Amino acid sequence: MNTSEQREVILKEAFNNLFLIKAKDVIIDLLTDSGTGAMSSRQWAGVMLGDESYAGSDSFIFFETTIKNLMGFKNVIPTHQGRAAERILFSTIAKDGDSIPSNNHFDTTRANILEVNANPIDFVCEEASDFNSDFPFKGNMNTDMLENFLRKADLSKVPIIMLTVTNNTGGGQPVSMENIKQVSKIAKKYNIPFYLDACRFAENAYFIKINEKGYMDTPIKEIVQEMFSYADGCTVSAKKDAIANIGGFLCTNDDSLAQKKKDLLILTEGFPTYGGLSGRDLEAVAYGLMEVLEEDYLKYRIESTKYLGEKLNSLNIPIINPTGGHAIYIDAKKFLPHIPVEHFPGQALACQMYIDGGIRTSEIGSLMFGGNDSNGNPFYSKNELVRLAIPRRTYTQSHIDYVVEVMGIIKDKSHKIKGLKIIYESRTLRHFTAKLERI
Ligand code: F0G
Repeated sequence: MNTSEQREVILKEAFNNLFLIKAKDVIIDLLTDSGTGAMSSRQWAGVMLGDESYAGSDSFIFFETTIKNLMGFKNVIPTHQGRAAERILFSTIAKDGDSIPSNNHFDTTRANILEVNANPIDFVCEEASDFNSDFPFKGNMNTDMLENFLRKADLSKVPIIMLTVTNNTGGGQPVSMENIKQVSKIAKKYNIPFYLDACRFAENAYFIKINEKGYMDTPIKEIVQEMFSYADGCTVSAKKDAIANIGGFLCTNDDSLAQKKKDLLILTEGFPTYGGLSGRDLEAVAYGLMEVLEEDYLKYRIESTKYLGEKLNSLNIPIINPTGGHAIYIDAKKFLPHIPVEHFPGQALACQMYIDGGIRTSEIGSLMFGGNDSNGNPFYSKNELVRLAIPRRTYTQSHIDYVVEVMGIIKDKSHKIKGLKIIYESRTLRHFTAKLERI
């Protein structure tokens, strides 16, 4: 525990960037749900059994079999985390001037596409921009926009179509089975491979189960299998719904593409039966992928996220409703209307939450998705959000109640919160290392 006076100093020394703060100086860490979950006894038991053979280990065979059984793809390529899978995917399939449509690309996906000079395009559904509509699948792709785009596009410059399930950038909102099916149908019509960015596939499946007609009695595993049956491949960060601290993978049904990806994997990640992971990591991921399908776990997970959302709603703090899977997203533009977007209202609020409560969150707004165009002109994100990501199997209700109390205190003095300006930024993924100064 530390005091708000101490945290003021800590934050100043970290240039108002919460990524630059030591974890020991944080009381409740809602920075991310990525790699921060608690592994189960079964996962730890798997760690003890890890087979560390360089090639063809039992742990890899277990990992591969588990993924094939669940997701049905022909080729499974392990990577050290999700962005490594993305880098290998885009370096293999995308080139200068290509376009890659999605509902919303997440930050690392977008950055990896930009890195090969291709163009990430977001076609999220209209309902996504109304934070108060109760539409249950705000992660859906706008399929009309996708078709309009494809009708006019040079199809040789659209190497894949992606769909992020759940949609992290847009509030952790799920994508319906119907939408996955429609996007897949369009992709087939135009002969373009369809990939899922499937980090939070199980949370997405749970929303399908409770909110989509016809799935109430379907076991989660079967819903997951159906979701993946419409795709030609996927990228996965195992740090989310595999409830592991590290890991990822890339799947494809295309054998020749898989070979190219494996060649690149050997160059950067490691041999294709470990891909930057140890045998024990592969065990933890495989067990996590099985455990995450347990309906009681998913019910608890989604209900506890909803609990935080309902408490913030009752304080009249503007959030994205209905609440999504892994996080609550506060609408900082609405909460701090006196701070213009160029002064980063999301980051200003995240900093205030740290000062007042030692709570670490992340900005999903113009610090993350804004920047400067080729002429040096700044551009901004559509939304200015603060994400309160909930690590899996980690915090209890009393921790969350503490967060709610702190938000109540901040609400009463929100008009006094000041904006920020950037004094240093990197070329890509600037939010991780940017330095900011209070205005
Ligand atoms: N795709 C999505 C939708 C993600 O949320 C992330 C990571 C990645 C890909 C990349 O995976 O971190 O294993 O390289 N999201 C984390 C977050 C960092 O905090 O939301 P990674």
